[in-house]
Amino acid sequence: MGSFIEHTLLYSIFITWLLLIHQIRSTAVERSTYIVHMDKSVMPKAFISHHHWYTSTVHSLTSVGPTKSDVSRSKPSLVYSYDNVVHGFSALLSRDELEAVKKSPGFVSAYGDRQIKLRTTRTPEFLSLNPSTGIWPASDYGRDVIVGIVDTGIWPESQSFSDGGLTSSPIPAKWKGTCEIGQEFNASMCNAKLIGARYFNRGLLANKPYLNLTMKSARDTFGHGTHCASIAAGNYVRGRSYFGYAEGTARGIAPRARLAVYKVDWAEGFQSSDFLAGIDQAVADGVDVLSLSFGFDADLPFHENPIAIATFGAMENGIVVSHAGGNTGPDFLSIFDSIPWTVTVAAGSIDRSFVGTLTLGNGLKITGWSLFPASALVEKLPLYYNKALASCNSSDLLAQVPSSAIVICDDTYDYFNQLSAIANSSVAAAIFITGNPELGTSGSFPRPGVAISQNDGPALIEYAKTSGRPWASMKFQQTVVGTKHSPTLEYYSSRGPSRTYTRLLKPDLMAPGSLVLAAWPPNKPASRIGLSMFLSNDYTLLSGTSMAAPHVAGLSALLKAAHPDWSAAAIRSAMMTTANPLDNSNSPIQDKGQNYTFASPLGMGSGHIDPNLALDPGLIYDLTPQEYVNVLCYMNYTEKQILTVTRSRLYNCSNPSPDLNYPSFIALYSNESTMVRTFQRTLTNVGDDAATYNVEVVVPIGSKVTVSPNTLVFGKKYEKKSYSLTIEYESDENGTRAYGSLAWVEDNGKHKVRSPIVVTPEVTL
Ligand SMILES: *[C@@H]1O[C@H](CO)[C@@H](O)[C@H](O)[C@H]1NC(C)=O
Ligand SMILES: *[C@@H]1O[C@H](CO)[C@@H](O)[C@H](O)[C@H]1NC(C)=O
Ligand SMILES: *[C@@H]1O[C@H](CO)[C@@H](O)[C@H](O)[C@H]1NC(C)=O
Ligand SMILES: *[C@@H]1O[C@H](CO)[C@@H](O)[C@H](O)[C@H]1NC(C)=O
Ligand SMILES: *[C@@H]1O[C@H](CO)[C@@H](O)[C@H](O)[C@H]1NC(C)=O
Ligand SMILES: *[C@@H]1O[C@H](CO)[C@@H](O)[C@H](O)[C@H]1NC(C)=O
Ligand SMILES: *[C@@H]1O[C@H](CO)[C@@H](O)[C@H](O)[C@H]1NC(C)=O
Ligand SMILES: *[C@@H]1O[C@H](CO)[C@@H](O)[C@H](O)[C@H]1NC(C)=O
Ligand SMILES: *[C@@H]1O[C@H](CO)[C@@H](O)[C@H](O)[C@H]1NC(C)=O
Repeated sequence: MGSFIEHTLLYSIFITWLLLIHQIRSTAVERSTYIVHMDKSVMPKAFISHHHWYTSTVHSLTSVGPTKSDVSRSKPSLVYSYDNVVHGFSALLSRDELEAVKKSPGFVSAYGDRQIKLRTTRTPEFLSLNPSTGIWPASDYGRDVIVGIVDTGIWPESQSFSDGGLTSSPIPAKWKGTCEIGQEFNASMCNAKLIGARYFNRGLLANKPYLNLTMKSARDTFGHGTHCASIAAGNYVRGRSYFGYAEGTARGIAPRARLAVYKVDWAEGFQSSDFLAGIDQAVADGVDVLSLSFGFDADLPFHENPIAIATFGAMENGIVVSHAGGNTGPDFLSIFDSIPWTVTVAAGSIDRSFVGTLTLGNGLKITGWSLFPASALVEKLPLYYNKALASCNSSDLLAQVPSSAIVICDDTYDYFNQLSAIANSSVAAAIFITGNPELGTSGSFPRPGVAISQNDGPALIEYAKTSGRPWASMKFQQTVVGTKHSPTLEYYSSRGPSRTYTRLLKPDLMAPGSLVLAAWPPNKPASRIGLSMFLSNDYTLLSGTSMAAPHVAGLSALLKAAHPDWSAAAIRSAMMTTANPLDNSNSPIQDKGQNYTFASPLGMGSGHIDPNLALDPGLIYDLTPQEYVNVLCYMNYTEKQILTVTRSRLYNCSNPSPDLNYPSFIALYSNESTMVRTFQRTLTNVGDDAATYNVEVVVPIGSKVTVSPNTLVFGKKYEKKSYSLTIEYESDENGTRAYGSLAWVEDNGKHKVRSPIVVTPEVTL
């Protein structure tokens, strides 16, 4: 379908980090980049800084190698030294040099650099954000919280990044970042909204020194980073639309938060050494929240996963990390990267439909879906239906359709191939009869046309077959809001249980992810007519968990502004325990990936974010960094593997634990036995006064659940109370999954602190 569809179907290219661990061949001078973790606590006193130590370690390697002449041709070289979220460095090393590094004092672990490959107007209202009440005024719209976007850079001229309304207060004093000058990017492109922009490409260039980068600066040449940044914290921009659809005021979830941008993903490639450098700098610069819309679609243990490693350090600094859960759904076990210390975000639809209306010659009106990007005239054109051609999936077939006609494409689940074949045809317009669950995720509609439901198909076909001269008219560029059964869990959103660590329920929660309108570079295609007419626009619609994660980053910024003293775990807890498992019809959220049956917590986590409730959750499940380390201890990680993640020997393994003080529960049973699992939890009262909470349990089918105690009485704010939850389950060989929930409900009804419960067979991978 050409390159453009890749830009609209963002989820299909959700930044997939290919595991191209460099093949190290035996020739000693062939070098590749390694990330090397060091134990800074044993740095010899002779070195004035970590950088000095690492440089010296790498330079001391010049004597290693088979022959003097080989060595003189090239030398090992340092790519980055890291000091915040990683203690260590990346360097271009040969295999022999790597072996020598492993013997040097202070060495902890090393692994090859990994190549990473690329995988709004409405959403604030849909999330009930309101200027007169709730979290927007309570947080002053996230004022002065700094949201870091680590992605493909930024288009600084976008009006979403203007600083109107922000210049009256100074940039927070803790900010240490900068606006890095580069190609088509000078310091005056930053302002009181975009307070920092940096770029990191040394890892990329270390392996490909002769690469001519298309844009040597933080300027975004793709659009993904610009889009994500404006979703999280874009300023108000009136009168935006997508070619007549989705019209309104564009703004982010935290419109008064500041933005800092770290470009680590280049048109030419994406290396984890550059990613680590970006996060390392973002933490040093003083960001409060990080939004990460990429991941590895592979099972990596935490100590070899740069995202897990870097975000541990961010978490220790109180930074909330919102991480896209991935677009590898809808099967169970399709989620990777389920890191205990990040917020893992699933994607849902919003209550907005883009409508094309079809009027038939017999007076029948059918409302369908269209995003054709112009007000095409389709007036009383002949309808063409031929069962033999109605698969509409090849140019040869479509060449037989009279060119002035509207062709009817019959129901196949092949909608996207049909759309592509129609784009390359000369038909006047098309009607797609389709039940494709991914219909509402693609902004592409390259020919005039309407997609209608399978229920409406028979009446249309009947008319086309029986009328002597059937005809139809179409209308485009209509937007309808309030669509029922919203949100629904999207087909593409990755599902648990997590493959890396099954004893934690992931994803954590769900946020809007499909056809989100947000800023876009005006020199990149935003839509297309036919195969080769590309249209530009300064806002575009994209879909993916990439778009859901910045919504949660924006909400985290609002919560951080309202509750500056809350930990990252407390903010995650507030978002999770107040998330809504019901849709806008008050029925359980449906799952497009499971034929519209009810979505399970394995798909949507605790439910859809509810910002105004998250402002005042009543109780929170808090966590210390040591508690996360207890899980690594339980997983039998070695001391060095743990040190790779934690960088510090102050953590210990005196209390290994499979479970965390987490706001959700997953109980795994094996085939042979009756399962009894007990979970311990501690709640902190963040409500104002003394409060009494009673437990309310929805028991998973086939289980027996005991909660002790079943009343929690808090005397004052910040008091902590503990309880235990025991789940007994009679093993079922057929692998049944069952779902329930536990909620602490305040006796005055003011707060409800809800957690999902999942009972699922043990995972055999
Ligand atoms: C930065 O670049 C813009 C656009 O090219 C230009 O108008 C402006 O004068 C430049 N500012 C500085 C300080 O060089
Ligand atoms: C990169 O650009 C330089 C100067 O424009 C040119 O000499 C060189 O051949 C280019 N390299 C590649 C790999 O395209
Ligand atoms: C087109 O659709 C028909 C009917 O579903 C199918 O048999 C055929 O293989 C498809 N052709 C292509 C090129 O996808
Ligand atoms: C477009 O259609 C022509 C024939 O009409 C065909 O030769 C060509 O391969 C098609 N191109 C694409 C991209 O499908
Ligand atoms: C989805 O559910 C509908 C209604 O229950 C049913 O008719 C249809 O066959 C199901 N489709 C699939 C793919 O399971
Ligand atoms: C950790 O090691 C112990 C002792 O070898 C073993 O019993 C336990 O099952 C291991 N735990 C995990 C999670 O692999
Ligand atoms: C391990 O850490 C805990 C909490 O920081 C501390 O109380 C305990 O004394 C430590 N134990 C050892 C053996 O160092
Ligand atoms: C449980 O039994 C089912 C079917 O008998 C089998 O497919 C599955 O692998 C078993 N699971 C475990 C954890 O042994
Ligand atoms: C499990 O599968 C067997 C054979 O397919 C069936 O007879 C039995 O009813 C199933 N049990 C449950 C609890 O679904």
